[in-house]
Amino acid sequence: MHKRYLMAPGPTPVPERARLVMARQLIHHRGGDFKEIMAEVRRGLKWLFQTESEVLTLTCSGTGAFEAGMINFTSPGDTIICIGGGKFGERWGGVGRAYGMNVVDVEVEWGEHVDPSRLESVLEKHGDATLVTLTASETSTGVIHPVEELAKVVRDKSKALFAVDGITAVGVHDIPMDQWGIDVLVAGSQKAFGIPPGLGFVAAGQRAWERAGDEGHPRFYFDLRRERKRQKDNQTAFTPAISVVLALREVLTMMQEEGKEALWERHRRNAEATRAGVQALGLRLLAKRCSDAVTAALTPKGIAAPEVAAAMLADQGVTIAGGQKHLRENLIRIGHIGFFEASDIRMALGALEQVLRKLGCDVEPGAGLAAAQAVFATSSNPVND
Ligand SMILES: Cc1ncc(COP(=O)(O)O)c(C=O)c1O
Repeated sequence: MHKRYLMAPGPTPVPERARLVMARQLIHHRGGDFKEIMAEVRRGLKWLFQTESEVLTLTCSGTGAFEAGMINFTSPGDTIICIGGGKFGERWGGVGRAYGMNVVDVEVEWGEHVDPSRLESVLEKHGDATLVTLTASETSTGVIHPVEELAKVVRDKSKALFAVDGITAVGVHDIPMDQWGIDVLVAGSQKAFGIPPGLGFVAAGQRAWERAGDEGHPRFYFDLRRERKRQKDNQTAFTPAISVVLALREVLTMMQEEGKEALWERHRRNAEATRAGVQALGLRLLAKRCSDAVTAALTPKGIAAPEVAAAMLADQGVTIAGGQKHLRENLIRIGHIGFFEASDIRMALGALEQVLRKLGCDVEPGAGLAAAQAVFATSSNPVND
């Protein structure tokens, strides 16, 4: 087995153009050439996040960026509302508690999305809440929450800020930060950007900055006020992951060449084809409201998900993800976030069919591929159809 395919919901494969950029000799991050690159990166990120606000590039993983997005605009003792429904949504409650905040967990069954009316009643009960957190695309369950409706509830019914983990949503779904009134929006380099882990992005709107005072949580590396000041001057406060920033400029250029609508449409089409394919192979989707970043599918009765994932890698060279926590034994997750094309989806479904048959499933040869091809046949996107 020589060929390897990375189809996890992050990290995602790095396009050749970005790999070549990273192969070049390093440049210094205080030089004029880096400043020019940062200026382009800042423009590209604003374009992708659909915001006039500064989108800060931090050298950290997505969790670091979200933690920064939470702690710069809140204070110890604040009441914050954290919408759960999966591993990542629930994680933000953990950050809040670590910083001494009073966390109201909105528990959501894994695989379900949160109903805006439910958030409305939680806000009525906790009128003093200063922040609501949401993971837009819940990578552990494959759910996309109704972000626009939830943002409206937060705006109309409270004085709280709305912080959205867009780590597997930005660059996949249309999440217009300014138009929907999202106060804080976060993303990470190893997801839709298709570059190595190492950069976290956090954008904050005016309402959030007004609360970024000295009286808040103790912070140093993640003090976004200093970072914003430096980045407005096309610098970073500390040494950034320089090579990854260079790759970021390249993939932002690629995204702009493709166009935002085409980017979302490619993700939608790949996701729809994957969903059709896995269902034709006898798996069941966990989510009712599906994210276009990842397909989370329950394996047929008697087929252990860890065995499927292990055989996908050992026999087919394809890395997919398993389920997390209580879904470990019966959930697989196929990532199609980033620079994937129809051929990648066909490859993954063909491999999955082989594995399921090996594990004793009675699957009709080509059933998954046929279902995916039916989706691609009706697609208007010309890329690799
Ligand atoms: C939705 C979501 N939020 C947060 C994270 C955590 O990001 P990181 O592992 O980069 O800290 C992930 C990573 O998979 C994610 O998918």
